[in-house]
Amino acid sequence: MKIKMIVYSYTHNTLRLIEEWAKQLNQHDIEIASIHAYDEDPNTKAISLSVKPSIEAVDHVVFATCVRGFALAPIMETYLKQIQNLKGQACTLVLTQYFPFEAWGGRQAMHQFKHLVEAKGGVVKDTFILNRSRKSNSQKARILNHVPQV
Ligand SMILES: Cc1cc2nc3c(=O)[nH]c(=O)nc-3n(C[C@H](O)[C@H](O)[C@H](O)COP(=O)(O)O)c2cc1C
Repeated sequence: MKIKMIVYSYTHNTLRLIEEWAKQLNQHDIEIASIHAYDEDPNTKAISLSVKPSIEAVDHVVFATCVRGFALAPIMETYLKQIQNLKGQACTLVLTQYFPFEAWGGRQAMHQFKHLVEAKGGVVKDTFILNRSRKSNSQKARILNHVPQV
């Protein structure tokens, strides 16, 4: 299966998770591509993207990023508003957040994430949130053991 993993990660927690997951999926053809903006300071209001990964013919697209102030990282939001129509593309959404509970930003950000991807015609097959300050490793294991569906 050809899988493209599109990541926006500022302090690399999300990127490390995605790289670990990609290693687990080593029977598949995986490409990881990062989104970048000219100014990635979290306080920047005017976002201008400098690197916008393309989405070509793939079987599955993973979008992964972090929670920012109880919302989706604005750089991922900007990217999703700018991409072409996803035309039924199977997608998985991954979010990392610091706080231990999804209710502390993750749930709200995931709702926004899903809405943006579906507005572009993407079909969201699965969603994952990693609460980084949670003691248990079960959320991470669930992600690392997951095989994206077409
Ligand atoms: C400006 C800012 C706002 C954040 N807001 C939240 C939040 O609302 N809830 C939460 O759990 N974590 C929040 N975090 C923590 C990040 O979501 C978390 O550390 C994430 O794993 C960072 O991912 P990254 O290393 O891939 O950039 C915030 C971090 C920053 C810098």
